Amino acid sequence: MKKVYLQTFGCQMNEADSQEMMLTLAAKGCTQTDILEEADIVLVNTCTIREHAEHKALSYLGRLAKWKAKKDDRKIIFAGCAAQRLGQKIKKKFPHTDIINGAKNIDNFASVIESQNLFDFEDKTNPTLENKSPIALVNIMRGCSCKCSYCIVPYVRGEAYSLDPKNILAQVQSALEKGASEIVLLGQTVNAYSYKGFSFSKLLREICAFDKLARLRYLSPHPMFINEEFLNTLKDCPKIARHIHLPIQSGSTRILADMKRNYTREELLAKLKALREIGIEVSTDIIVGYPKETEKDFEDTLTLCQKAQFSAAYCFKFSPRKGTPAALLKELDQEILEKRLDILLNEIKKSSKAAYARQAGTTQQVLFEKPTNGRTSNNFWVRTKKKYPVGAVVDLQIKESKDTILLA
Ligand code: 5AD
Ligand code: SF4
Repeated sequence: MKKVYLQTFGCQMNEADSQEMMLTLAAKGCTQTDILEEADIVLVNTCTIREHAEHKALSYLGRLAKWKAKKDDRKIIFAGCAAQRLGQKIKKKFPHTDIINGAKNIDNFASVIESQNLFDFEDKTNPTLENKSPIALVNIMRGCSCKCSYCIVPYVRGEAYSLDPKNILAQVQSALEKGASEIVLLGQTVNAYSYKGFSFSKLLREICAFDKLARLRYLSPHPMFINEEFLNTLKDCPKIARHIHLPIQSGSTRILADMKRNYTREELLAKLKALREIGIEVSTDIIVGYPKETEKDFEDTLTLCQKAQFSAAYCFKFSPRKGTPAALLKELDQEILEKRLDILLNEIKKSSKAAYARQAGTTQQVLFEKPTNGRTSNNFWVRTKKKYPVGAVVDLQIKESKDTILLA
């Protein structure tokens, strides 16, 4: 029986893809190990969203040469977005790589490992993965058709398509029966989901009808697809988390237009207000130093953040990705990027601290991910003195906030 060590870089979509590939390997009789030295196979699932992410994946692959040389028959599988972008070129620089399986090819992983004939696998029916988490990730869409000017994702993951709701609902049911408390629906533009007239909102409503479900999240929505039907679904279905991670990218209409985001600052502010009115906390992604971003554009992002009071934000310096339209534009000086990132992070720190502080004295539903750590529906981390079973969902009074943790 072969043992597989898994290393995943990047987003939750990659986490879900890793699980899918691990299941394929389990069907071939493999088991998972947390100890690299015990492994016969290393599966590296990679990210290429920014240059830095790709460097991280490649330098990890480089370091695996030593691991591989220590024993005969060790194998390395390099998968995911960086694998898709670089393809067979990887083997030239890293000849110790055995299999390359790009992000567009996750569904075909079984045939890839079979055709390579590298492993003497035994077939196993009904494989399962050991899952210690009370949270189940469920892919509902693949790819992205938005083609935001800076983004490599549509090129490495292909055009968007939605998966059959019948299969999604069956997957949700099975995860809940195995003990999951929370479901996270995944897609690059998850709220653009639409399958032969079956909308994202309809899917949310059908999933909420499962008795065993405690909480439903979704990642990552696009502001463009936030509509009346969705807002009404949030109002009607309290199991849907009172939090949305809504990447805005910029607060300047001019930059948003250049990025091809399909919304203006004003439309964004109106949608953020509508979400707040339903009691939804919002976190976001922001890019600083996009080419052409003037001081005034950056100022617009800052003032939008002040109005929106995000509970958290991932802030990124613009990274040119070859093949995207924005990579052809003249870059700003790195110094400007550093300075703007600093200012923005400072602003976000303030709003995040304030968001945590607002929770003190309230009662929140906490879903435990560890015995003394859980998450509220509006996505704040809570620490307790008392221990709870992982997966338990408990209403707790929040005593106080300490920077980015709540104590209950
Ligand atoms: N440069 C910097 N940040 C980027 N992102 C996507 N592409 C780039 C890029 N070229 C950020 C966006 C997105 C998040 C996942 O990564 O903010 O929402
Ligand atoms: Fe990239 Fe835009 Fe698609 Fe998000 S919506 S994955 S930023 S192209």
